[in-house]
Amino acid sequence: MTPQNKSWVEEYQNVVAKWELEPDWALIKYHQLISQGPVLDLGMGNGRNALFFAKLGHDVDCVDVSKTWVKKCQNRAKDENLRLTAYRADIRSFKIPKRYYSLIIASKILQFFIKSDIEVLVEKMYHGLARRGVLYLRVFSIEEFEYYLKHKKEITLVEPNTYYVPKYQLYYHFYTKEEILSLFSKLRIIHCVEGLESDLRFKKPRKQWVIDFLGQRIR
Ligand SMILES: C[S@@+](CC[C@H](N)C(=O)[O-])C[C@H]1O[C@@H](n2cnc3c(N)ncnc32)[C@H](O)[C@@H]1O
Repeated sequence: MTPQNKSWVEEYQNVVAKWELEPDWALIKYHQLISQGPVLDLGMGNGRNALFFAKLGHDVDCVDVSKTWVKKCQNRAKDENLRLTAYRADIRSFKIPKRYYSLIIASKILQFFIKSDIEVLVEKMYHGLARRGVLYLRVFSIEEFEYYLKHKKEITLVEPNTYYVPKYQLYYHFYTKEEILSLFSKLRIIHCVEGLESDLRFKKPRKQWVIDFLGQRIR
C-alpha cells in the first residue's frame, strides 16, 4: 500500500467521516476486562474506539496515516480534556514499546497489508502488550470478498486471499478464522466470532462479513 497515495487517503477520509463515534460493540461488551493502563489504537480513523477508552480514563496513543484524522482526533480529545496522543505515521514504521499496553486495537486496518507486513505487525502487537494485556482485532472475512468483487473489477490476486487494487495502489487481504487463530496463537482467546455485520448508519444498511477477535497475553 502507498499511504501517500492522495486519492486513496481522500477517499477514506470521506468514508470515515460518515462514521459516527460509537465504538465497536465487542469493545463495549468486554471493556471491563481491560486493566487500567495505556491503550493503543492502530489506524484509529475518526477515533471512535480511541476516544471511548480515553473517556474511560485510559491514557491513549493512536496512530493514523491521515493528517486530517490525527488533527481531528487530537482536537476532540483536547476539547474534552482527555489524555490522548494522536501520531501521524504508517503503522508499519510506528515503534510500539514492549510490554506496555493494556489494550491494543486494530479495527479494520489489517486488511491493507501483504502477508510479510501482517506477520511483522502481529509480532509487534504481541510484544507491545503488557502481561494480561488484550488485543482487539476486527478484520474482513474471506466471505466479504464476494461482495468486494462485485464493486472492484480490476483487481489482481497477488497472494492467497490478497488482492492488489491498482485504482488505489493498495492491497486487500481477506482473512479466515483459522488464519486469525494461527496468527494470534500465543494469546488466550476471549472472543472470536465471524459474522455478517449490518451497519444501520447508512440509508441502505451496509452488510459486511467481519471477524472479531479478542485475545489476552498470558505471559
Ligand atoms: C477502514 S478505516 C478504520 C478506522 C478505525 N480503525 C475504525 O475502525 O473506525 C482505516 C484507517 O486506517 C488508516 N490507515 C490505512 N493504512 C494505514 C497505515 N499503513 N498506517 C496508518 N494508518 C493507516 C486510514 O487512514 C483510515 O483512517
